Amino acid sequence: MSEPILSARLAAAAGMVRKGGVICDVGTDHALLPCRLWLDGERKLIAADINEGPLLSARQTISHYIGDENAVRLVLSDGLDKIDYADDVIIAGMGGELIARIILGCRFLCKDTHFILQPMTKAEVLRRELYKNGFYIEKELAVKDAGRLYVVMSVYYDGQSRETDDTFAYIGKVRDTAYLCFARDRLIRAADNCACADPAKSTALRTAADGIEKTINEIEGNADES
Ligand SMILES: C[S@@+](CC[C@H](N)C(=O)[O-])C[C@H]1O[C@@H](n2cnc3c(N)ncnc32)[C@H](O)[C@@H]1O
Repeated sequence: MSEPILSARLAAAAGMVRKGGVICDVGTDHALLPCRLWLDGERKLIAADINEGPLLSARQTISHYIGDENAVRLVLSDGLDKIDYADDVIIAGMGGELIARIILGCRFLCKDTHFILQPMTKAEVLRRELYKNGFYIEKELAVKDAGRLYVVMSVYYDGQSRETDDTFAYIGKVRDTAYLCFARDRLIRAADNCACADPAKSTALRTAADGIEKTINEIEGNADES
């Protein structure tokens, strides 16, 4: 039987999942990720989606790759609304604002709940919301997939609200210089674009870009020394 091949961003998300617990993939769509995890030995898998269509396609994927359509529990759910419990929650392929809304609505949150997040847009909004609401980013990677850079982060809840500055909001814990240069250049362009209409915003964006530049210099300086 053939095996599901994950895109680089989903493979990175799969690599951050802890072994042996209840794993819930929210916004599963095709359910390739839970199928891959099942084939890698995980047995307590939930695949959730807000729409019936993706769940139908998920059922087909599960039958195709696993042979038993009950191997993964399928749940029609807006975010985590209909999910009672999971140790690890994966939310990939959605905007940062929607991911934040889904996490903040989690009813079974405890200090050991982990979230593996892969925002397509607005990662800076997601990081701010996470830190304001008691979540901590333990690990964050940049992943190149089909010519585009994505971030994938592993997050847990500890209930402690934290301050974030703009530089952290835009790069989080990513230390890949290609991603940092991309984030810096995007901020400089945005600062230039609003320089006349909103000088205060332009200055704030430029300050964040300077912070990223400093981080790049620190990384490159360390690389020279070693
Ligand atoms: C672009 S697909 C991402 C699929 C897969 N997670 C990936 O990263 O390749 C987004 C999926 O999220 C689902 N979705 C959107 N909003 C949702 C919500 N509030 N709760 C659950 N699923 C949602 C959509 O129906 C769709 O199947």
